[in-house]
Amino acid sequence: MKNKKIYIAGHKGMVGAAIWRNLHKNGYQNLIGLSSKELDLRNQKSVLDFFNAERPDIVIDAAARVGGILANNNYPYQFLMENMLIQNNLIDAALQWDVEKFIFLGSSCIYPKLAEQPLKEDCLLTSSLEPTNEWYAIAKITGVKACEAIRKQFNRDFVSLMPTNLYGPFDNFDLQTSHVLPAMIRKFEDAKINNHAPVTLWGSGTPLREFLFVDDLAEAVTFALENNLGDHLYNVGTGKDLTIKELALLIQKVVGHNGPIHWDASKPDGTPRKLMDVSKLKEKGWRYSTELEEGIAITYQWFLDNKTNFKQVKI
Ligand SMILES: NC(=O)c1ccc[n+]([C@@H]2O[C@H](COP(=O)([O-])OP(=O)(O)OC[C@H]3O[C@@H](n4cnc5c(N)ncnc54)[C@H](OP(=O)(O)O)[C@@H]3O)[C@@H](O)[C@H]2O)c1
Repeated sequence: MKNKKIYIAGHKGMVGAAIWRNLHKNGYQNLIGLSSKELDLRNQKSVLDFFNAERPDIVIDAAARVGGILANNNYPYQFLMENMLIQNNLIDAALQWDVEKFIFLGSSCIYPKLAEQPLKEDCLLTSSLEPTNEWYAIAKITGVKACEAIRKQFNRDFVSLMPTNLYGPFDNFDLQTSHVLPAMIRKFEDAKINNHAPVTLWGSGTPLREFLFVDDLAEAVTFALENNLGDHLYNVGTGKDLTIKELALLIQKVVGHNGPIHWDASKPDGTPRKLMDVSKLKEKGWRYSTELEEGIAITYQWFLDNKTNFKQVKI
């Protein structure tokens, strides 16, 4: 198993890099990855040529165009079409070239906005999506369905993992396009070094959210790689949530900011609550290990160490 050729698509992203680190740590020696400049996954011919040349045994799809509410709202076509192109080209090439295992990564936004909480895998497609990220969600749902169809029709081990909100090293700290947790780390740090100036945060602070440290997600991917999970779709999270206000206070404490926090209620809140039911993967034997405060502290330290070297966001 440790000598299998494993292609990690998106290996330089936050998730792909964590998966690479985890597989490497666990003794996998035959890992391959290419940047989007070296292989544009939107181009089907390039993807098929790459599979023909490299013949990976296993493919992990951590490549995607990702972003927060603002980016989703401003670039709906890119979020829909680029994600479908990337995943369709990978899934179809993996089918054609007899890849033995394919792990597709989506996100909890595939589930309906008002589905019963905590979100179970079988609430998929039972009612409407959260409008602020439906473009991205619809693309991801088609990826889940493609993997399910391949399992059903060809009996191949194509599995989808749906992580909750992730954070950690290599996260996106660009305030225009980032998710809530890295955005807060940056805002509190900037305010701290500006004499503990007030920090303004989006929304009411009341929505409930769940967060998973990205290295824990990488553990779950390795677990999925090493075990035949038996079904096509599994949630990955902690199963615990907190309000955005509680998250802000935790980050403020870790960063050491002492100024006031203002809530800009004119900005959208998004889904009122988003908590994953993670019992399906837990029954298979996987559980998270990093508590939120510890993960935030590691991420904050990474932020400080890499402040001059953040990723350039394409949009
Ligand atoms: N971040 C989260 O909170 C979160 C939560 C749940 C699920 N996920 C899932 O995890 C996956 C990865 O997310 P992430 O946070 O790691 O994103 P990320 O840091 O932005 O990384 C995305 C990766 O995709 C690659 N990519 C994008 N467009 C490409 C293209 N046209 N051709 C080739 N590669 C391309 C990028 O490569 P280059 O850098 O070379 O351009 C980059 O390595 C996504 O499927 C996402 O849904 C993320």
